[in-house]
Amino acid sequence: MYASRASEVNTRIVVTGTDTGIGKTVFSAGLTWLLRGSYWKPVQAGLEGETDSAVVRSLAELPANRCLAEAWRLSTPASPHLSAERDGVRIDVDALKVPSIEQPLIIEGAGGLMVPLTRNELFIDVFAKWNVPVVLCARTTLGTLNHTLLSLEALAVRKVPVLGVAFIGDAHADNENTIAAMGRARILGRLPNLDPLTPSTLQSAFRTYFSAGSFER
Ligand SMILES: Nc1ncnc2c1ncn2[C@@H]1O[C@H](COP(=O)(O)OP(=O)(O)OP(=O)(O)O)[C@@H](O)[C@H]1O
Ligand SMILES: [Mg+2]
Repeated sequence: MYASRASEVNTRIVVTGTDTGIGKTVFSAGLTWLLRGSYWKPVQAGLEGETDSAVVRSLAELPANRCLAEAWRLSTPASPHLSAERDGVRIDVDALKVPSIEQPLIIEGAGGLMVPLTRNELFIDVFAKWNVPVVLCARTTLGTLNHTLLSLEALAVRKVPVLGVAFIGDAHADNENTIAAMGRARILGRLPNLDPLTPSTLQSAFRTYFSAGSFER
């Protein structure tokens, strides 16, 4: 039974990352499953193949009514501002509002934090306006210190509440500890590279490496 844990956990969580392709969708699927929540991808740029919503529905074994419709479905796999221009539309950033639902809601951004939605508005500014706590997904490998510390600084400058960092990849104790210390961030856990990546391996990894309680404010 897909029951709700709305009273026990944060009801809104933004999942963002230090880059595109970092594993936000896979992480979001696991988190949506762990919190028995709903998933929303406000801006989907690129419609060929499986969309992020379709991946989450499949990996989290999510009932259709727990995956909210995207606000923007753009054809080109590119930055949303460019993808929108190619489709002949302009994303109305002020109209992007967090849906009001009862269950915990996992919201996945597009790419990294400073992805433009229009020629003069960034996704991170929408997160700041929403004031919804953010989970920052980060690689464990070389280069992650720079990307993760920059991302945390950008969030701090805009006073976006940060729940913590979720690592994705093989363990790297020094990178993880350095980010916790120098970024003054809570480490929420680490999702290993899963092979194969299936609903059952993902759910089992989330049971092992994350706890629903860490996602409370
Ligand atoms: N923990 C993992 N184990 C195995 N494969 C993974 C894992 N995390 C991500 N991947 C794979 O890496 C690729 C990118 O992951 P994902 O789509 O989750 O990234 P993303 O950050 O959501 O990208 P985008 O910016 O396009 O939304 C996918 O092929 C996905 O299956
Ligand atoms: Mg994604």
